[in-house]
Order: sequence, then C-alpha cells, then structure tokens
Amino acid sequence: MYSEEINKRRTFAIISHPDAGKTTLTEKLLLFGGAIQTAGAVKSNKIKKGTSSDFMEIERQRGISVATSVMNFEYNGRKINLLDTPGHKDFAEDVYRTLTAVDSVIIVVDCVKGVEEQTERLMEVCRMRKTPVIVFINKLDREGKRPFELLDEIESKLRIKVRPLSWPISMGMSFKGVYNLFHKSLNLFRPGGTTVAEEVLAVDDIEDGILDERLGEFAAQLREDVALIDGVYEPFEQNAYLAADLAPVFFGSAVNNFGVKELLDTFTTIAPPPRGRETDLRPVDPSEQNFSGFVFKIHANIDPRHRDRIAFLRICSGKFERNKFFHHVRLGKEFKFRSPASFLAQEKSLIEEAYPGDVIGLYDTGNFKIGDTLTEGEKIMFHGIPSFSPEVFREVLNTDPMRSKQLEKGLEQLTDEGVAQLFLKKHGNRRVVGTVGELQFDVIQYRLLQEYGASCRFIPLSYNKACWLTVKDNKKMAEFGRFRSEHLYTDKDGNLVYFSESDWTLQRMREEYPEIEFHFSSEINTGRPGLKARIA
Ligand code: G4P
Repeated sequence: MYSEEINKRRTFAIISHPDAGKTTLTEKLLLFGGAIQTAGAVKSNKIKKGTSSDFMEIERQRGISVATSVMNFEYNGRKINLLDTPGHKDFAEDVYRTLTAVDSVIIVVDCVKGVEEQTERLMEVCRMRKTPVIVFINKLDREGKRPFELLDEIESKLRIKVRPLSWPISMGMSFKGVYNLFHKSLNLFRPGGTTVAEEVLAVDDIEDGILDERLGEFAAQLREDVALIDGVYEPFEQNAYLAADLAPVFFGSAVNNFGVKELLDTFTTIAPPPRGRETDLRPVDPSEQNFSGFVFKIHANIDPRHRDRIAFLRICSGKFERNKFFHHVRLGKEFKFRSPASFLAQEKSLIEEAYPGDVIGLYDTGNFKIGDTLTEGEKIMFHGIPSFSPEVFREVLNTDPMRSKQLEKGLEQLTDEGVAQLFLKKHGNRRVVGTVGELQFDVIQYRLLQEYGASCRFIPLSYNKACWLTVKDNKKMAEFGRFRSEHLYTDKDGNLVYFSESDWTLQRMREEYPEIEFHFSSEINTGRPGLKARIA
C-alpha cells in the first residue's frame, strides 16, 4: 500500500524562457487532469511591464504564486504534482530551488525563437542534479525554425542528446499535424481545439497510402524525415532518459491543445517516481518507513496583518501526518502541524497525510529557513539547496533610525525566504544585500515598509560576484584576511565570502592564493560547519 502510494506519484516542473508557453501548457495539462474546468483559470505569473506599477504587480504575483505553487491532478492512474516556477529572470534563484524538489522536468521551447538564454541556465541546474528532462517544442502553428535545426540547437545549447518521439508535418499556416514515432500514428491538426482536438490514425507502415491521402504533398517529406531520424538518432532508451543522458522531444502547439496529450501520456509512462535524496550522513530512500522532508521555499503571507508564512516541504520518505510531532533538525525541537495544506489551482485544502513526492504547505511563524529538514528524530540534513552567487550588490542604509530593530528583523526574515541574500561585515555593522536581479530591491524595499514598517535606501556597490571560500592552509587564510579585509563579508551562517569586482580581479586572487578555493555556490543553511572558511 505504502509503495503503491509512492509509485503512483510523479513530481515535476515545467521550465522555459518567458513567453515560450509554460503557462499555456500548464493549463492544458490541468484540463486533461480535470483539476480545472475552464481555460483561463491558470494565471500567468509573469511580471508584465507597463501594465501597472511594479509594486502592485509584485503583490499580484505573490498572490498567484502561493495559489499555484503546487498543482496536483490525477491522470492515467498517476498522482501528478506540478510545481510552479516563476517566469521572471530576476527570480531565477527561486526556480533553482524548486528544481531541488522535483524528480523530472519538462522544458518548453518556442519553435520560432529556439533555445533561449534562461532555458540554458535552468538546464545547467538540471544537469548538475541529473534531473531527467523531456522537451516540448511549442507553437508549431507558427513559421519557426526547421525541426532538425531545432534538435541540433537543443543538443548544442542544452548539451544533452535528443531523441524525437513525435515529428511535425510542416508548420505555420500549412501545419498538418504530427507523426508519433513511438506509437506509429498520425495525429492530424485542427486549430482551435479544446480538450481532445486531434484525429489519430494508426499508421504502422510509413509507406501506407493513407499518408498520401491525408497529407498530400507533405507525405513524401515525412517519409524522408522519418528515414533520416532513424538513421541519425538511436532508438529511444528509457534508462538513458532516466540517467539524464537523453531527452525525448515532442512537437506541438499548447494553445491549440495539440501534441499535449502525447506529451502527458508519455510523461506518465516514462517519468521517474519519487527518487531518493542525499543527506549529510547518508542517502535517504523514499521507501523508508520513517518520515523525512525538506523545506525548499518559503512564502510570506500576503496579508501583512498576519505575519505567518508558508513553508513548502517536499516529502522524501515515510508518511507525513497532520498533528503528529516531527523533529526540526536545525533547531533540535519537535513541531506538529495543525493545518498542513495542499494547493490546487486557486484552492487550498487541508491534508491529513502525504507521501514521498508530495509537496505540502506548512504554516510557519518564523521557525523555518530554506533547506531545513524535518524527520522523526534522526539528525540528518538534506543536501543540495544551493545558494548561488548574486550578481547585484547593494549596501543597506537605514533611513529611519527609530525602526532599526524592525529593519534588522525584516532583512533577516526576507532573506530566510530566499528573496535575496544578506551579507554582513564583522566590523562596522555593514549590511549588504545580494540578488540576481534589480527587481528584488524593489520587492525588499516595498515589503520592509509594508510588513515591518522599516525604511531603507540601497547604495550600489561595484561587485559582480560573491565567492564562498574553502581553504587548506589557515595561515594563508589569515594573510588573505589581513590584506583583503575590505572585500570579505560573512553570509548569514557565518561562512566567509569574498566579493570580487570583476572576473579579472577574481582570476588574480586565484593565482595569488592557490591555497584558497573560490566557489560560486554554497549549500546554504546546513547549520553545520563544513570545510568553509570562517573568521577566526
Ligand atoms: P510563459 O508562461 O512561458 O511565459 O508563456 P505563456 O503560456 O504565457 O505564453 C506566451 C504567449 O504565447 C501567449 O500569448 C500564449 O497564448 C502564446 N502561445 C502559447 N502556446 C502557443 C502556441 O502553441 N501557438 C501560438 N501561436 N501561441 C502560443 P500572449 O499574446 O502573450 O498572451 P494571451 O493574450 O494569448 O494570453
């Protein structure tokens, strides 16, 4: 029974460059799963410039992103958990963290634009974590790049081998449909379809005259393409996909609901069930009886009168139960949860129990940080909630000295949520906020005022990277500390971080101090001193 529960779960995220069609595809998948009844129910979580003020937009966003954080639905006997990821590039860190909570990913690529920058960056994270990916090439109802060109681009830019499982027959105005290479069937396209738009014909033999009858002049091209595919690409191997070495590729048009069913059918057949996770002491397998899970995202309540937050927990093993005491490893305390929630499109509901692969929302009054682990008592901590080097740095100037306590608390809590990173200077009480984009500073300033009644200004600093340091020789570290103290800060866990002004200065430091290693990412919040350098 327990293993059945685990095996039927599939937890994944859809990632794409903004505008490729992530929201549209999400909506179609939810329609198939019966989780929503009408189109338009899933709101885009894009920050649209120029529609309203950025602040209002950010607030609207936060409302949407709580509601759509995890969407679950059933399909083909599977219980599917779809984790939402923000579209705006300034929130890339949020996406990275969400990727630690999924077992596989669907990447959406726009056939007109091809592989775009943000998709490349997100794929880096999937590669690091060996997350299996399926690619959906979207918008075939438009004139886009040639299919073979798109496959080459995916291979070279996303650095993964591909295997098409469906193949488009023409595109744009003359788009006829796709040939399903896996099931050997022809899916004919009728634009503007609703739930099941396509006409599917079994075509066991590619020479079958039905192709000429239905496709006319395009039949010959399809035969030529299929012969080429079989010659160039190896047959699809599920194990290569599961090992993250091979990405199956589908073609379709999300807005027309075309090719989405094949994608979902294949996804539910080949995607991995909940996978194990590494901790600092041992790997944890989902089939273990004892409960364990980790927090990968924290969301502040959008109502400023209620300070409580929602911590999103991915369950890794065992069974989560409402009102049962669990062990918070970092704090060494027991907690129970009265109203754990699951989210379904706009609705939120109380849950009694949850299994590996599930993501639940826990109401929190400030006890959780990103990366925290809950267990039934074992003192293990899950790995792999990395904190990446920020790219924009600003010093915080308090503009209301009467409210310094509030400012401090606000900065502390907002950075616990992962909105940005906070760095401190040992002497002089200087605080620097680091982010991956400009937008976060607006968010922080606005939320500090709204939620904490604190105000501040940000002074731009001319740094471009923060590096966590590990060191083999403590004497060298002391020397480095003496000469470079101006550039040295600590993160919230007391780890030493070096701020570099340019790639060139960083390179020079690396040459001058070969004993010190400079890292662009850190495991945040393990709460345990590792190899990382600390100020003595
Ligand atoms: P995102 O979440 O990845 O940012 O993309 P989203 O789904 O919001 O889609 C971006 C735009 O692309 C939307 O148009 C959407 O309708 C359109 N789109 C999605 N799939 C297809 C497709 O298969 N073919 C075509 N031609 N367009 C597609 P929009 O004008 O920005 O918004 P809307 O007013 O249509 O909602």
